[in-house]
Amino acid sequence: MYLLIPAAGSGRRMGSDRNKLLLPLLGQSVIAWTLLAAKQSTHIRWIGIVCQPHDWQDFKDIVADLGLSKMVHFIQGGSTRQESVYNGLKGLPAVADQVLIHDGARCLATPELFDRCAETLQTCKGLIAAVPVKDTIKVVNPANKIIESTPDRANLWAAQTPQGFVVEDLLRCHEEGIRQGWEVTDDAALFEQCGLPVQIVEGEETNLKVTTPVDLTIAEFILRQRSSANGSAKGEG
Ligand code: C5P
Repeated sequence: MYLLIPAAGSGRRMGSDRNKLLLPLLGQSVIAWTLLAAKQSTHIRWIGIVCQPHDWQDFKDIVADLGLSKMVHFIQGGSTRQESVYNGLKGLPAVADQVLIHDGARCLATPELFDRCAETLQTCKGLIAAVPVKDTIKVVNPANKIIESTPDRANLWAAQTPQGFVVEDLLRCHEEGIRQGWEVTDDAALFEQCGLPVQIVEGEETNLKVTTPVDLTIAEFILRQRSSANGSAKGEG
């Protein structure tokens, strides 16, 4: 399976002047945790990191430290996530027929989630990891902040990544998006707008996207919990 990791953002909402994926998290960088999970997936054989040229050297050093140089390739990012993924799709080897796309900022996704998505992609053309929403969601008028409606929570799912697609179909959807001027925040939205079905795969509640400083604190807590759970499992064995 081919994996593209959009990693060409900044640290603006994190209040950082550097790419948030290069910030430290429990002894590693954020992106290193993402890459470690992808490395442990039994399906992923090829990883394309989509990033800005000024971050290349830092990413290359991280990839080398993790011993991943053979399977990781670098592709130039764009000015939006949508553009970065499009560049990534064009940077895939010609033989790549299916692809998973996973935000570098979702550094807590587990290898099992990558595997579940890769396996489900054998039965459909498009999928996303998602979890049912726990909050009641309101649609709000941006001008006066008055609530317009309350969608039925039973039908609402929070989109995560990985998202997986047949490469040829997703490329066509991206190109249609460029022609129509669609601006989207995930790849499923392009598939949907082109009338193609997107399957839900059960995501993970811990699969948060590191966006603001509090997310780093929560991510560190979860990683510590995982490492002590692994330690005690090994101790028992
Ligand atoms: O900003 P946000 O966290 O929503 O971005 C989601 C993912 O898209 C991040 O991993 C980020 O690095 C990536 N991204 C990108 N190119 C951009 C903007 C964001 O690859 N121009």
